[in-house]
Amino acid sequence: MGRPDLAIAINGGITTIEAAREQLALVDGVMVGRAAYQNPYILAEVDRAFFNEAAQMPTREEVVERFLPYVERQLGRGVPLNAMTRHILGLFNGVAGGRAWRRHLSENAHRRDAGIEVIRGALAAVSRNGRWARASGDDGIREAVRA
Ligand SMILES: Cc1cc2nc3c(=O)[nH]c(=O)nc-3n(C[C@H](O)[C@H](O)[C@H](O)COP(=O)(O)O)c2cc1C
Repeated sequence: MGRPDLAIAINGGITTIEAAREQLALVDGVMVGRAAYQNPYILAEVDRAFFNEAAQMPTREEVVERFLPYVERQLGRGVPLNAMTRHILGLFNGVAGGRAWRRHLSENAHRRDAGIEVIRGALAAVSRNGRWARASGDDGIREAVRA
């Protein structure tokens, strides 16, 4: 009576990579909604955790840099900046400087002429407010440790 052709995914209440891993022993797929919205950085671990264990997890700053070409393309098509930045407001949640990141985006991304300089400004605000401990040779955020 089984239906092995059906792909079964669970949805609702999965908030961590560990919980997703537990579920994947039981079902084919896991959906993550609110947790990915509140703390999108949990998605940075997905590639390494489930698809390519050798992959290096990008830093939050690298995630932002990889996002920028997309943002520029969409700006060129007339999409307002804050329609995109609203999805990354939580990127630095839980780390030092996260509030400055969110505030900078909230206060500046809605302006009509807002471009990617607003996102770069938000990264600068993270560095200024984050009290990052700089390891030698790092780029300021890569090896950052919470102060
Ligand atoms: C920002 C956001 C947007 C969503 N948009 C949709 C949508 O367009 N259609 C839909 O069926 N569910 C939508 N959902 C619901 C999710 O797919 C999911 O069913 C719900 O959030 C429960 O999963 P969670 O506990 O992981 O958040 C949305 C959820 C969030 C947080």
